[in-house]
Amino acid sequence: MRNLRTAILISGRGSNMEALVNAARIKDFPAEIVLVLSNRPNAEGLKFAKKAGLPTAVVDHTKFESRDDFEAAINDHLKNAKTELVCLAGFMRVLNAIFVNRWRDRILNIHPSLLPAFRGLHTHERVLDAGVKFTGATVHFVRPEMDDGPIIIQAAIPVNPDDTEETLAARVLEFEHKIYPQALKLVAEGKVKVSGGRAIIPSQSSSMKGFSNPPD
Ligand code: GRF
Repeated sequence: MRNLRTAILISGRGSNMEALVNAARIKDFPAEIVLVLSNRPNAEGLKFAKKAGLPTAVVDHTKFESRDDFEAAINDHLKNAKTELVCLAGFMRVLNAIFVNRWRDRILNIHPSLLPAFRGLHTHERVLDAGVKFTGATVHFVRPEMDDGPIIIQAAIPVNPDDTEETLAARVLEFEHKIYPQALKLVAEGKVKVSGGRAIIPSQSSSMKGFSNPPD
């Protein structure tokens, strides 16, 4: 089977990008990373991507008059790299509906909560304030609304009484790094179908019955 040509958009640290790149290096992984693009010239993640020998690009949003122009420039890079799928990985710019719809069902995002709960920024702070006993991470197809779209995979993570934003973020991130490559693999293998706002994975099954926090 041919590898799905995948571009990753970042703005900063790029640890999820690293997880995707590392997964794509594994033999028989069904996707290959053809471009790592950042809107910030000094994004930490660019260093890793360059070291890994991947094509990189910078499209600095501060250099564009309008969001349409900025996104058109991104789109040119994606087209030049013959991109088939886009993964947003800590990409901190809101994308217009035109861009998102052009890539409909071919653009993924990861968010550090159990969506649709806690969309937007400062997720872990709001999770702690709300006192929920579980949080998590979600990989989903992107829709024009922020952190919206058919959910492909979620990881549930218990919130502990002594958690801080930092400890929680670290535990969630560990699972982000697992589920993003897992989602990319499922999508690249053609195992995810979008229907009526839901991502259907016919092969999906879980032997877990559920768990409580605090546990029994
Ligand atoms: C991650 O927590 C991701 O879920 C969110 O932004 C953070 C990016 O981290 N969208 P990194 O740049 O992938 O390390």
